[in-house]
Amino acid sequence: MPTATFQFPAGFLWGTATAAHQVEGHNTNNNWSAWEEEPGHILNGQRAGAACDWWGGRWKEDLDRAAAGGQNAHRMSIEWSRIQPEPGRWDEDALEHYRMILRGMLQRKLTPMITLHHFTDPLWLTAQGGWENDETPAQFARFVEKAVEALKEYNTLWVTINEPNVYATSGYVSGDFPPGKQDLAAAFQVLLNMVRGHALAYRAIHRLQPEARVGVALNYRGFQPAHPGNPLDAALVRFLAHNFNASFLEALSRGRFRYALRSTAVPEAVKTQDFVGINYYTTDLVAFDLSAYQDLFHRRFYPGDAVLSENGFIRHTPQGLFEALHWGQKFGLPLLVTENGVEDSQDGLRPRYIAEHLHQLWRAINFNWQIKGYFHWSQVDNFEWERGWSQRFGLWGLDVDTQTRIHRPSVDLYTAVCKSNALSSETVQQYAPAAYPALFPG
Ligand code: FCB
Repeated sequence: MPTATFQFPAGFLWGTATAAHQVEGHNTNNNWSAWEEEPGHILNGQRAGAACDWWGGRWKEDLDRAAAGGQNAHRMSIEWSRIQPEPGRWDEDALEHYRMILRGMLQRKLTPMITLHHFTDPLWLTAQGGWENDETPAQFARFVEKAVEALKEYNTLWVTINEPNVYATSGYVSGDFPPGKQDLAAAFQVLLNMVRGHALAYRAIHRLQPEARVGVALNYRGFQPAHPGNPLDAALVRFLAHNFNASFLEALSRGRFRYALRSTAVPEAVKTQDFVGINYYTTDLVAFDLSAYQDLFHRRFYPGDAVLSENGFIRHTPQGLFEALHWGQKFGLPLLVTENGVEDSQDGLRPRYIAEHLHQLWRAINFNWQIKGYFHWSQVDNFEWERGWSQRFGLWGLDVDTQTRIHRPSVDLYTAVCKSNALSSETVQQYAPAAYPALFPG
């Protein structure tokens, strides 16, 4: 059998990613907890509840496991509604709590990366219209200043906003996220205000911490024409690739925000990225469909022979990670894979998913694209938004009732990779044999 070792660059960041609302538990002062209380929003009526009990202290055991697994970084988010429970009030205890967690990371030799906004908004902000309100960018920047002032002693890597494209699409186009609207004009306004909020936050962070590195974590979704050669499918692929994937970061490089056939100048956003953060999960087929007038005449779907995740949420398309990085490197900035993973409670597909995605990551690095790290989603199963607890993305499983962590085989695969800073044929053979033929043909 052919053997080889895919080596990663010295200093490469290997970690997992989490988000406050998904792991902390008992976040009752944000738009998601209100949304969870209303029937019909979350699959099976589930709630984040105690989540992974990080606020109660179980971040320690999860980060112990991360460190023992050879990881050297961790991406987490902080919860705005804890830090600023009301417009004029700052909760210093909450900030101190995050300082403690960050010290805990450094003690474990995990380089922190902090996300300042990961889907949740304080209830008071929602009451003011959330990101549809033109005052919100400035309010976000004030929160960012306060948080960065308190946390900069321990952290230099900042993600201002996680997946603004998913926040806007799910909250204002499909209506799966709060506030559950289906209103393209509102989506445009929300994204525009997120561009402005990001730009203000970028400058505020750099004022407080010149050595900071600041970016966005964008959800990059692959789009392929369902019928190659069909010009209508191809045109829709181009539209989605711009609208969903490119529009936000293009505003930060060109100073013009173009979305849903509208366009506005945002000169203040130019050069407000130090790295490009990419969250990549999957790739869709796209077909023109005259009957789908509500979806701008397109259908997105997975082909019949696709390899799918447990609930069919993710199609296994590792090549799409390479394409995402190929796209991302055009910005001329360092790249980070800020999320990548698969829902799989049985850990049947995950080892193959990890091995084949890391192989694509390694291929991309060999083109000399400046890729600095990889954060797997996630360390432990956590609350998956409108999909509740039905989707299990953890390297470690979670028994939600007892808070017991359950070892999955993927832990050993990821540990072998992180500890050796490499993906070797031996590791693949031992922990992800299903990926062997694709990675080591011959
Ligand atoms: C991403 C989100 C993250 C998690 C994963 C599975 O879109 O950023 O919070 O839900 O998907």
